[in-house]
Amino acid sequence: MKKGEKLIFVLIGLIAVVSIIYQGWNVANITEEDPGIPYYSTASTELSSKAGLLIREHSCKECHKLFFLNNLTQNVPSPSLDGIGSLRTEEWLYDYLSAENPQEIIPTRLKARFKMPSMAHLPEEERRILAAYLASLKVEDWYLEETRKEAYEKRTGEEYQPE
Ligand code: HEC
Repeated sequence: MKKGEKLIFVLIGLIAVVSIIYQGWNVANITEEDPGIPYYSTASTELSSKAGLLIREHSCKECHKLFFLNNLTQNVPSPSLDGIGSLRTEEWLYDYLSAENPQEIIPTRLKARFKMPSMAHLPEEERRILAAYLASLKVEDWYLEETRKEAYEKRTGEEYQPE
């Protein structure tokens, strides 16, 4: 074998070894975790199941997304309830659900049949359960601004301008 040929073999060998080591190092360094689903609830099982029944009974998911799901036949551009407890306080939510005219609190941009119906006719206990449960629907800090933006855009139909 000529000297030049030897050198080429050595070089090819070196490249192979380096690339194997590099790949191994790369795999070992995939430490950047998938941040996962940002929404969670701090509610007790008891509160969740009581609220779950009310949410079904009053068809909230006809219009709202909750844990990404809503009634698939509906497509009302209403704000998602995911993370709402990081945007609103329990008192605010209770007052909103107790309002005879929720549109005095949040004006609607939708046709009458899609706007938020008043829940003022529900017994106080049910409005309290719903408010407590909604307040427990939190969003991780890293997704808070995005959630705020989505809620704003759904509510107003306008582009969100962060302050
Ligand atoms: C007919 C569709 C509809 C149903 C049913 C409905 N909502 Fe709404 N909701 C809306 C719309 C639309 C808005 C946005 C305000 C508006 O346009 O009236 C809204 C707003 C809200 C907000 C305020 C969101 C924010 O941005 O702060 C909360 C909280 C809420 N709804 C909870 C509920 C709960 C809980 C139920 C069930 C008990 C429910 N909604 C049932 C359509 C609905």
